Amino acid sequence: MKTMLTRVTINGEIKEWTIAPGDLLLDVLRREGYLGVKRGCETGQCGCCTVLVNGRAINSCLFFAAQADGCELLTIEGVAQGDRLDPLQEAFLEHGAVQCGFCTPGMILNTKAFLARHPDPTEDEVRDMLAGNYCRCTGFRKPIEAVLASAQACRAKGRGKPPRARKAAAR
Ligand code: FES
Ligand code: FES
Repeated sequence: MKTMLTRVTINGEIKEWTIAPGDLLLDVLRREGYLGVKRGCETGQCGCCTVLVNGRAINSCLFFAAQADGCELLTIEGVAQGDRLDPLQEAFLEHGAVQCGFCTPGMILNTKAFLARHPDPTEDEVRDMLAGNYCRCTGFRKPIEAVLASAQACRAKGRGKPPRARKAAAR
């Protein structure tokens, strides 16, 4: 079988993987031990395989691993800082937005990419954003509350910073 080498920065670490040209990123990530990336519909509908590629949320079941060559990837394993959960993860827990957790990595990563571009979203915008992440147990009310609360907390934190840092935080 024809193989190739792909080099990525994933969760801050440089990795080289031997892949076949047709390998999907979902399969490669799970094979390499990133099991927070979930396999659901495999047709781009459920969002549970979401990861960030250069800051953009993508469905890894529809993305060739070869396309990730040279890119920066973020999976749920890289979201917490050591033992400290990301504030968005904290918000999901505080608001009861996690039950079985199968959809949660995809929701968190999709939301991170979204909030980086929309730091002050409306409820409708959050609802639209989460429409691509199916949740079979919690529903959407609590995740929406968690996202809005997390965005508000980030903005409040930003207000305590000097204007230049605030600008950078909003980018
Ligand atoms: S497994 Fe990729 S969108 Fe469902
Ligand atoms: S928490 Fe179970 S699918 Fe969302």
